[in-house]
Amino acid sequence: MQKQEKIVQMFNEIAPSYDKANRILSFGIDITWRKRACNYVLKNYDKTDLNIIDVACGTADMINIWQQEALKLDKKISKIIGIDPSEGMLKIAKEKYKKVTFIKAFAQDLPLENESADIMSISYGLRNVVERKKALKEFFRVLKKDGLLLILEFSKQEKKGFLSFFRDFYLKNILPILGGFLSKNKSAYEYLPNSIDHFLSEQELAKELQEIGFKIVKINNFSFGISSMFVAKK
Ligand SMILES: C[S@@+](CC[C@H](N)C(=O)[O-])C[C@H]1O[C@@H](n2cnc3c(N)ncnc32)[C@H](O)[C@@H]1O
Repeated sequence: MQKQEKIVQMFNEIAPSYDKANRILSFGIDITWRKRACNYVLKNYDKTDLNIIDVACGTADMINIWQQEALKLDKKISKIIGIDPSEGMLKIAKEKYKKVTFIKAFAQDLPLENESADIMSISYGLRNVVERKKALKEFFRVLKKDGLLLILEFSKQEKKGFLSFFRDFYLKNILPILGGFLSKNKSAYEYLPNSIDHFLSEQELAKELQEIGFKIVKINNFSFGISSMFVAKK
């Protein structure tokens, strides 16, 4: 099995316990990161009538947050689509949001028209996309001119201090045991810290985005650098 297929298979296996494990392992703090990020994007996008695509949507956590934050800011979402290659994750997403359109597809090969989206998001998903550059090019193709891309991701820590020691200890020693217990799949939760270690630094990701043609609007850190937010404009 190819690396990308194995990753999707792993998400199929952990899908039934994904939401519960996510909330417990992040102490619910990921919800705050998601809300702050969506709020920032909506405030910095002029139009009020929006077409939003959430890629690597998983069990659709971002769908709800986009809708809540848009409501707060008096913005209308005319269309919101969730995309993910994992049938297991999409099954849970569809049970949660019966009226939302979900499409089974890879980020690097989106079945979407050119310049059709106002906003695209990918939260904690880009690390799993083996053909990452191809996917970033796809986001650029699908976004309208001036459209915004939101990336939420765990960043690779370059500065080593007490907090990064604590974070690494949690990710490498505690999370695999807790995640393994909650999902009955320890290797999936060993994959998380490894995939963060092998991912890009903030500067490297910013450079890749710029090489494709994006303009960086904002890079922000949440909770002492545990999670990073990138907002880029086409
Ligand atoms: C850690 S989950 C994140 C799910 C959701 N976005 C969230 O914030 O909870 C990563 C997701 O990426 C999806 N994924 C893996 N490879 C992908 C690819 N090449 N293209 C799009 N999604 C992918 C997985 O199926 C999984 O649902």
